[in-house]
Amino acid sequence: MQLLVISASLNPASNSRLLARAAHQTLADAGHAVTFADLRELALPPCDGSSAYAHESTAKARALVTAADGILIATPVYNYDANASVKNLVELTGRAWDNKVVGFACAAGGTSSYMSIMGLANSLMLDFRCTIVPRFVYATETDFADEAITNRDLVQRTQELARTIAHYATVLKT
Ligand SMILES: Cc1cc2nc3c(=O)[nH]c(=O)nc-3n(C[C@H](O)[C@H](O)[C@H](O)COP(=O)(O)O)c2cc1C
Repeated sequence: MQLLVISASLNPASNSRLLARAAHQTLADAGHAVTFADLRELALPPCDGSSAYAHESTAKARALVTAADGILIATPVYNYDANASVKNLVELTGRAWDNKVVGFACAAGGTSSYMSIMGLANSLMLDFRCTIVPRFVYATETDFADEAITNRDLVQRTQELARTIAHYATVLKT
């Protein structure tokens, strides 16, 4: 069983990347095979529905998603949605998402955008029959300071999300 943690923020001082790292650590400590993919490093081309599909970075991303049974997406909330980078990843990699288990950890500015992840969740569920883990993490700027998670409860919720994704992926694989 292979797991993938995707950090979608392109901000060098990202809060959602801290959530991604905490989730990755939890899964690695539990002995899971888990890969960390940072969209800052993947440098994907913008999806044009054409030549971008043949780009080297697209091939790399497609291989990562294809290999994974369970995927945790850690994303910023931008304009009441996941950020454009992760939507671009999904546009580029399409059918690689078929039947994956997917969970979300979101970093937002405030509390009002709580349901922002539903657009991406719906699209993954309806387009690619992903199993969406109903537990998701939603964090705000008050949960972080000095590039660290300061809310202990948030750390526990992130760990719980990571374990739940691993559990769903294990059960569905068997
Ligand atoms: C372009 C942009 C749009 C944003 N839109 C929202 C929003 O709709 N709701 C919200 O709560 N915060 C919003 N924010 C605040 C971010 O969600 C917040 O800064 C978060 O920490 C970003 O995640 P990151 O630190 O992992 O990059 C926005 C920030 C930017 C730069």
